[in-house]
Amino acid sequence: MQHTTIREALSRWGEETRRDLPWRRTRDPWAVLVSELMLQQTQVARVLPRYRSFLERFPTPTMCAAASVGDVVAMWDGLGYNRRAVHLHRAATVMVLEHGGEVPDTLGALLALPGVGPYTGRAVLAFALEEDHGVLDTNAARFLARAVAGRSLAPREAQELADRLVPAGDAWAWNQSVLDLGATICVKRRPRCAECPIAEECAWNLAGRPEPDPAAGSAGTSGPQSRFEGSDRQGRGRLVQALRTGPIPVARVADAAGWPEDPDRARRVADGLVGDGLAEYVDGALVLPA
Ligand code: ADE
Repeated sequence: MQHTTIREALSRWGEETRRDLPWRRTRDPWAVLVSELMLQQTQVARVLPRYRSFLERFPTPTMCAAASVGDVVAMWDGLGYNRRAVHLHRAATVMVLEHGGEVPDTLGALLALPGVGPYTGRAVLAFALEEDHGVLDTNAARFLARAVAGRSLAPREAQELADRLVPAGDAWAWNQSVLDLGATICVKRRPRCAECPIAEECAWNLAGRPEPDPAAGSAGTSGPQSRFEGSDRQGRGRLVQALRTGPIPVARVADAAGWPEDPDRARRVADGLVGDGLAEYVDGALVLPA
């Protein structure tokens, strides 16, 4: 197998090109957890200022758990997918109740936290504790399917391969390099193979990049993000934004959601926010949870 060459070439490239990002300067598990949850669906440039302000306000799980969920959602402003903030607040509460206010240090306990899945759990272990785990997100899965396997991978296979590839004792740098390669070179559409440090070892490239792309439909990859404009998500976002400035009387929910002509839809989306713990009905108005 040419895994050794891929490892060496990618590790060297990572050393030379790795971006200096604040969450790469820390080994604090809470900071790593917060950064990885923010990065899951939001671009680095948008995450940077929010990462700093969030950790200034909530430097530990205990400080986060002591705040109201509304305060935590408010500090998530601009990141979208506010459910992540609700989960993080609940996870912080579990840490206080069950783990002495610390981020747990085993995969099993991490996976038991609200909002923490296989990617985030392993990211904490690899990036904070420097334990040897393969971190598998969409970008890493693309690299594995194309370069290493040369075919599409089922979820279990992809995770096993990701774990197997980690150079012993070097999980931190290795996984950061893999994520960067997937984010900047081995991108979904029009990969920049001419600039790729492992083009000469890439199974897909060596085969002449036949279609279908092995990354398409592979584990860890998802279909295109559904349209935002006109979606329920857009109305949800508008409601959460409006809630930050104060309660919304039920009669005004449709306007605040941006659907004055469709109060039923607005009410359904508002009910969804309540069901997800992002809002409550109090005295005939929609409010942020206490
Ligand atoms: N995306 C997910 N995790 C990341 C990390 N640690 N650095 C940069 N981008 C990421």
